[in-house]
Amino acid sequence: MNSHDFNKAAMGILMFMLLAIGVSNLTEVVFEQEPLEANAYPIDTASVASASSADVATENGPSIAELLQTASVEKGESVFKKCAACHTPDNGGANKIGPNLWNVVGRNVASKADYDYSPAMHDHGGTWSYEALDQYLTSPKDYVPKNKMAFAGIKKDTDRASVIMYLRSLSDTPHELPTVEVAEAPAEEAAAPAEATAPDPM
Ligand code: HEC
Repeated sequence: MNSHDFNKAAMGILMFMLLAIGVSNLTEVVFEQEPLEANAYPIDTASVASASSADVATENGPSIAELLQTASVEKGESVFKKCAACHTPDNGGANKIGPNLWNVVGRNVASKADYDYSPAMHDHGGTWSYEALDQYLTSPKDYVPKNKMAFAGIKKDTDRASVIMYLRSLSDTPHELPTVEVAEAPAEEAAAPAEATAPDPM
């Protein structure tokens, strides 16, 4: 009886102390976030930057061809909300502030007859390849100086790849995806063991 009560009381005190320590730790965490953040980042970016520049011969990380291998149409559809104020995506959709974007991948730049392009866009030439779209959507005013698309660009390369993947889906016959050469060697190795399993009859 007595010891039972004592245990309960001791337990109570213990719980209260743990709680008090917990709360004081919590406030420390809340108010000391900035030093934590500073510690967390440098390791990450250093390893990512060195890995991508070693694997790929580009200065700024993976190419659009590589990013498209894993890009998702669904994610791109949600990124496209940024574009929808000015562009319709559907077949036969109206031109708004910007031209309708059905079938835009592979289409000649400034080639919609019923849209009034700026002189800069009109004179640019070329087609909307994946690379061209990637560069234009990174910074519209740098890729086509003086074009009239009032859009700052998408800085995050995975978001850009997703929206380009979505643009690709806006077609009855979507443009072929680019291929990435790196995969060839492992594929041959993987095929070899299959041929070697035949002998050893039992
Ligand atoms: C504020 C309005 C606006 C927004 C937002 C916008 N655009 Fe545009 N876009 C335009 C205009 C205007 C043009 C025509 C530019 C010209 O003629 O100089 C254009 C042109 C284009 C073209 C070239 C089309 C062609 O037929 O040659 C593409 C591709 C494009 N936009 C994609 C996008 C994508 C993708 C987004 C979203 C990530 C986006 N735009 C966001 C206004 C916008």
